[in-house]
Amino acid sequence: MSFSRSTLLLLASLACALPLSSLGCSQVAPLVGSEQLRDAGVVDVTGAEVGQVSFARDIRPILERLPTDPAGPGCKKCHYSSEASHIGLDLGGLDLSSLGTLRQGGGTSGSKIVIPGNPAESAIIQKLRGTYAFGTRMPKSGPPFLSEAEIELISTWIAQGAKGADSE
Ligand code: HEC
Repeated sequence: MSFSRSTLLLLASLACALPLSSLGCSQVAPLVGSEQLRDAGVVDVTGAEVGQVSFARDIRPILERLPTDPAGPGCKKCHYSSEASHIGLDLGGLDLSSLGTLRQGGGTSGSKIVIPGNPAESAIIQKLRGTYAFGTRMPKSGPPFLSEAEIELISTWIAQGAKGADSE
């Protein structure tokens, strides 16, 4: 009988959860270096996709972070029409307060803000990586910028079709 590498890793990580385990658990973690993706149930220990990214559950909390957040700023301070001031909405034209307004894009991105199935061409990903042709890398106050795992999470959501209700 033979097991694939991923099956063995899965078994090893299950064994780590058992209190009497004598296995070296440090060998199992962290293989993909992205705890958030695992916490979100998007990838398993081998990095294989196992689930659907939810905008409301997984991405909204990142956008929602305030400048004082220990995990680094999100977008709320500058891009939420619900806030008293919003320089990113004023100068960039982008309202991130709902998924519906996010989908409308901003002054230069428009419908290219999120292209379902194509994260690389989506303006929001290029802006987060600093490769967009116009303006600066987001969040504009950075560094810190979003972590690679967080940008990957948003990329995965777009690759999976950028689903979600406009109210999310
Ligand atoms: C400190 C304020 C600030 C923060 C925080 C911020 N932005 Fe911006 N954003 C701006 C400003 C100002 C512009 C317009 C200038 C530019 O594009 O560089 C802009 C423009 C943009 C644009 C381009 C819109 C267009 O169509 O031209 C995108 C996309 C964007 N922001 C995404 C984000 C995302 C996603 C976050 C959170 C991860 C974020 N921003 C956080 C201020 C901010």
